[in-house]
Amino acid sequence: MSFTRDIQPLFDEDCSKCHDYLKSGVSYKMLTTQKSSCKVTPNYIDTVNPTTSYLYLKLHENPTNGTIMKGEHWTPENINKLLLWIEQGAKNN
Ligand code: HEC
Repeated sequence: MSFTRDIQPLFDEDCSKCHDYLKSGVSYKMLTTQKSSCKVTPNYIDTVNPTTSYLYLKLHENPTNGTIMKGEHWTPENINKLLLWIEQGAKNN
């Protein structure tokens, strides 16, 4: 999986209109170096336990904090691509 090819276009379509930090050029750094506001699963990306990545959880019903983030391009298949990318080490590729 490639962050630039597979993941960022999905943010561009559905997410960066509300979140400046998910815009191309800033999103990778922010997701891999900053902590979220969630106390339970603070890491946006967790390569040790990929399914506890807060970004991944936020794309599902009943995340560990706040509400689900949806978008028409975030199909189950594309959410799985995000998980695969995290499992492969969340590279800046
Ligand atoms: C209509 C505006 C809007 C859109 C579009 C949107 N969000 Fe959000 N997002 C919010 C608001 C408001 C919050 C704070 C409330 C919450 O966490 O439920 C939030 C919170 C978040 C958080 C938690 C941040 C933190 O540190 O707690 C993440 C991660 C997130 N959004 C990701 C996404 C993703 C990924 C998408 C695209 C699928 C998306 N958002 C689309 C408005 C939006």
